[in-house]
Amino acid sequence: MNLKNIRIAIDGPASSGKSTVAKIIAKDFGIIYLDTGAMYRAATYIALNNDLGEDATAIIALLKENPIAFGNSLEGQLVYLGEVDVTDAIRQNDVTNNVSKISAIAEIREYLVEAQREIASHGGIVMDGRDIGTVVLPDAELKIFLVASVDERAERRFKENLQKGIETDLDTLKVEIAERDRKDSTRKVSPLKQAEDAILLDTTGISISDVVAKIENYAKER
Ligand code: DC
Repeated sequence: MNLKNIRIAIDGPASSGKSTVAKIIAKDFGIIYLDTGAMYRAATYIALNNDLGEDATAIIALLKENPIAFGNSLEGQLVYLGEVDVTDAIRQNDVTNNVSKISAIAEIREYLVEAQREIASHGGIVMDGRDIGTVVLPDAELKIFLVASVDERAERRFKENLQKGIETDLDTLKVEIAERDRKDSTRKVSPLKQAEDAILLDTTGISISDVVAKIENYAKER
């Protein structure tokens, strides 16, 4: 198929390398990149900042008033809520530690999944998340399930955080990542799960460029 129209779903646990490889593939193929985790993070940021707890109706109302939008800068993708740039705010620890709770709410998922399908409706997209191959785009042309050991993922997150100036402790990160895996995989609504027709790629010890090359080759075979 024409790679300009391909829909690629990349799912997997936190810090398995999804967003890094998805961004490179989007650039190489000239297609859109959609970070669906950023959308759940934005919803969590709204909930925390407005003391909304898990009140889905109130969170969705505020998301409608302040729609999630994406922009580009030299440093990478920007995330907006309405006019406000929340790119850095949604990566802070308070959001990270509460996002599993908010992303487990069915109404929030329905609202965001609809927005994600709308963005993907013209094709030519690589989307990363937890339920892209199973729920959001079940008929995507290529589905990848990326995994890596908890130790390696914690080290990657640690380095990413350092670059962003966020202070973290490696052992704490390992515990948090394992806990987030558990919550994301055991929640009732759209748990993290490999789609039957997804290709499993273990990125432990494999360079980013090798992972990208593998996925791009699969895409070219479609
Ligand atoms: O990819 P990330 O770590 O930025 O995602 C943040 C959280 O959002 C993660 O804990 C699980 C949730 N998420 C989800 O439930 N479904 C998605 N499609 C993407 C992310």
